[in-house]
Amino acid sequence: MLCVNVELKERSYPISIGEGLLQDASSYPLKSGDKVMIVSNPTVASYYLETVRKTLTTIGCSVESVLLPDGEKYKTLESLNLIFTALLKHNHGRDTTIIALGGGVIGDVAGFAAASYQRGVRFIQIPTTLLAQVDSSVGGKTAVNHELGKNMIGAFYQPSAVIIDTLTLNTLPKREVNAGLAEVIKYGTILDYPFFEWLEAHIDELVALNQESLKYCIARCCQIKADVVARDETEKGDRALLNLGHTFGHAIETHLGYGNWLHGEAVAVGSMMAAALSELLGDLSVEDVARLEKLFARANLPTVSPDAMQPEDYLPHMMRDKKVLAGKLRLVLLKSLGQAYVAADTDKELVLTAIRRCTQCD
Ligand code: NAD
Ligand code: GLY
Repeated sequence: MLCVNVELKERSYPISIGEGLLQDASSYPLKSGDKVMIVSNPTVASYYLETVRKTLTTIGCSVESVLLPDGEKYKTLESLNLIFTALLKHNHGRDTTIIALGGGVIGDVAGFAAASYQRGVRFIQIPTTLLAQVDSSVGGKTAVNHELGKNMIGAFYQPSAVIIDTLTLNTLPKREVNAGLAEVIKYGTILDYPFFEWLEAHIDELVALNQESLKYCIARCCQIKADVVARDETEKGDRALLNLGHTFGHAIETHLGYGNWLHGEAVAVGSMMAAALSELLGDLSVEDVARLEKLFARANLPTVSPDAMQPEDYLPHMMRDKKVLAGKLRLVLLKSLGQAYVAADTDKELVLTAIRRCTQCD
């Protein structure tokens, strides 16, 4: 088993990464008599709920569960309320532990429930998508969507442990695996050139779900994220770097309607746009951009704008990004592969030129 620690003083916590951890009682920081509420959805529950329940029962925990409907469109206050209702019905007090068993949607909603139920209860993440294992389960961002905006209601609330069983990826649809790889590639691109090179050598193994490569890769991504979060927990500075490609990507997701393109697919194209812009600014070479494009393509990810979107469609969406300050666009760009920075007030014409470069018919 590999272990990464998120260092946040008294709120520090371990991330355990290994095969078969769901069945391993020693990977859960729980003891006999603990009360637990597992939050999941019917898809994930059909594969893994009984395994987790059985392990926790062996420890001597009393276990209840609540299933939320599956999908981003259910990342809502209504789903949050389903969790509160289940907790209250079963008399869970402040000493309860909420466990998120699922992808980023379940993790974000269950985390916000843990942050707010009786002003905060213990929280454990068991992420089951690659995206959740390398990104959303680590770092304490929790949220639900509002009809007027994604992730608009939430809290920073760290889990007390993250348990990553890499075997759960065997049941994940391939398209979701690939979408998770977009976030993996992001880490190497923004902060870790040696990891970028490692990905160039091992991306095919990751696509094929080779367990050894996956464990190394997930641990590396978690370590990079843990370091960033330890430096800047509430995104006053460096944490924004984790959003490479996200401002362009959110424009794609919003324009096409949530669910048409997966988040990771939109981030891949968005990262290509950020790379094109970095090339226009003289920081990346043509070869650097081609290397990034090849890596995304080998992970079966798109690298050009969707057909249904015109270059001019992007900017109105991008101006609503959380990073916009005083009406000025702030974008994560690249000084080189492995070195990102936040660019304040990038020229909009140049942004448009970069978007055009990543458009099919350009
Ligand atoms: P998701 O949670 O919707 O999961 C994708 C699909 O895979 C779902 O249908 C789910 O039921 C299914 N699934 C999950 N695990 C499975 C498994 N092992 N086998 C079979 N099917 C499985 O999507 P996601 O990509 O994991 O997460 C996206 C969400 O994460 C978004 O809401 C996004 O805002 C959030 N997010 C949060 C952070 C953060 O820091 N908190 C970071 C990135 C993304
Ligand atoms: N996924 C970006 C962050 O956690 O900050």
